[in-house]
Amino acid sequence: MSVLSGKNILLGVTAGIAAYKSAFLVRLLIKKGANVKVVMTPTSKEFVTPLTLSTLSKNKVYSSFTKEDNENAQWNNHVELALWANLILIAPATANTMSKMANGTCDNLLLAVYLSAKCPVYYAPAMDLDMYKHPSTLKYFKILNDFGDIQIPAAIGELASGLEGQGRMASPEDIVSLIEKYILDALPLKDKELLITAGPTYEAIDPVRFIGNHSSGKMGYAIAEVAANLGAQVTLISGPVSLDINNEAIRVINVVSADEMFKATHRYFKNCDIAILSAAVADFTPNEEALHKIKKKEEILTIKLNKTKDILASLGEIKSNKYLVGFALETQNELENAKTKLKKKNLDLIVLNSLNDKGAGFKSDTNKITLISKDNKIVSFNVKLKKEVANDILQHIIKELYV
Ligand code: CTP
Repeated sequence: MSVLSGKNILLGVTAGIAAYKSAFLVRLLIKKGANVKVVMTPTSKEFVTPLTLSTLSKNKVYSSFTKEDNENAQWNNHVELALWANLILIAPATANTMSKMANGTCDNLLLAVYLSAKCPVYYAPAMDLDMYKHPSTLKYFKILNDFGDIQIPAAIGELASGLEGQGRMASPEDIVSLIEKYILDALPLKDKELLITAGPTYEAIDPVRFIGNHSSGKMGYAIAEVAANLGAQVTLISGPVSLDINNEAIRVINVVSADEMFKATHRYFKNCDIAILSAAVADFTPNEEALHKIKKKEEILTIKLNKTKDILASLGEIKSNKYLVGFALETQNELENAKTKLKKKNLDLIVLNSLNDKGAGFKSDTNKITLISKDNKIVSFNVKLKKEVANDILQHIIKELYV
């Protein structure tokens, strides 16, 4: 899946011959799963039609401050458009538009959107080779780059003038892969290995029965997915759940019992940077698994249970410089119990869920957490969707580790 998937991209088209390539750009961005809105400078409509771009983007195309088909009837809100965008791409960017961007000139909708933007702005210059080399153009490149805008350099090749040199807009494929690379390189968990445990474990009593719990795995799976979106390579050790995950950056290792989870977690712990153990591991397992289905001959059946190995605590003993996160599900003296677990298991962070909180718990899509760090810093959050909770946990870790 591309990092552009689900992103809101505002494509600014200005009046250069390369504007015809913006149709290919829109198609590529849509194929990557992005939502695309196009803002055209008025003259660019002479190079490519709004109909083409609106058909390909599946959105209306904007080019003036007022509604296109009924002047003065409705304002096209440049601020709204700018805030909608996760990124703005101006391609082609003509010398004229770049000089206006650099000087704060605001005589069309695209420039107003540009000035209102808070998101990253990429621009792909396109012009003839001597224009490209002109000191004035170079000056505006520098100003825009100093603003923090990201230049996608023009390619070398045959130009519309018939001359050869640098000036033609980078190809739509190159533009898109360069943006993807920029986004990937800037992800906060890039090159980090995350190990996550999730779900329940099943402890076999006989071939058909087991001791288990109500964990759905939703929290751990949400952490895995959000971590992957933040650039991490994730190993997800999962107990039996009915969830599916399909992400190139997530390797799923399916286990059933606490013992299998123990072994798998230790196998992958060596190479991880951060381990988050959210699984609801069974604390006890039958002393032995009956070979055949137990028949109900007796009035009372006694099953002898042995304590399972505490995976989290065992990692705490060998963690060295890895960042180790545990979960605590408590029903009373929540904070005190969680703090004790944090210390006893040698954790960097513990995520406390209280069963007393509405909206927190095993099967729900929401959770309410309190984070307690090693240095006793406590942060409480409201009830949120598990994806949002996952993001809160990961952002907290990123802040502690990398900011
Ligand atoms: N955990 C684990 N291995 C176990 C039991 C628990 O790795 N055998 C981990 C869980 O994944 C969780 C944390 O330990 O991150 C806390 O689990 P919890 O059951 O709440 O705490 P326990 O330490 O088992 O203590 P108690 O059940 O007595 O509250």
